[in-house]
Amino acid sequence: MKNELEHDILKVLLTEEQIKARIQEMGEQITEEFQGRRPLFLGVLKGCFVFMADLIRACPLQSDLEFIAVSSYQNSTVSSGRVQITHDVQQDITGRNIIIVEDILDSGSTLAFLKNYLLTKGAASITIVTLLDKPSRRTKAICADLAGFTVPDEFVVGYGLDYAQHYRNIPYIGVLKPEVYSK
Ligand code: IMP
Ligand code: MG
Repeated sequence: MKNELEHDILKVLLTEEQIKARIQEMGEQITEEFQGRRPLFLGVLKGCFVFMADLIRACPLQSDLEFIAVSSYQNSTVSSGRVQITHDVQQDITGRNIIIVEDILDSGSTLAFLKNYLLTKGAASITIVTLLDKPSRRTKAICADLAGFTVPDEFVVGYGLDYAQHYRNIPYIGVLKPEVYSK
């Protein structure tokens, strides 16, 4: 029987097993590239938190961890395009090699803003790692250095991704029934 969260899911796009296997590969790639460079993993809250937890455990590296929180959606399925920092990094990032960890790269507004912001603050390098990439909706000239999966132009939830702060605790990535957000 479906639980009360799964009732709102139209279809499963990526299973737990697919996500786990891909993150293992991504971790190996990052570990090889950042050996001896002590990167700073910077998660973009809140959507990153499930992915971040799995990704850092797939990267046996000397590294540091930080979070930044931004908001651009205000409970809609379409980005407002205006990005606001609601929680800033808590340490000096001058000269650091930063790995931004995102749940999904959509219009690109969030990452275009963040990349510029972090470089202004003195970061030495920015590497963008995203679990999902939705290239069909891009409006900013920005691309991921490493993306887990390319997804179609559908609103997805689960594995940290939300709609109006719900569904983050679904363990896989699913497509939300359109009637849920058109209500
Ligand atoms: P962008 O600024 O348009 O690239 O959007 C990035 C942010 O929008 C992500 O970090 C997500 O929080 C959110 N987002 C974009 N597409 C989706 C989606 O399909 N489901 C859930 N959140 C999304
Ligand atoms: Mg979100």
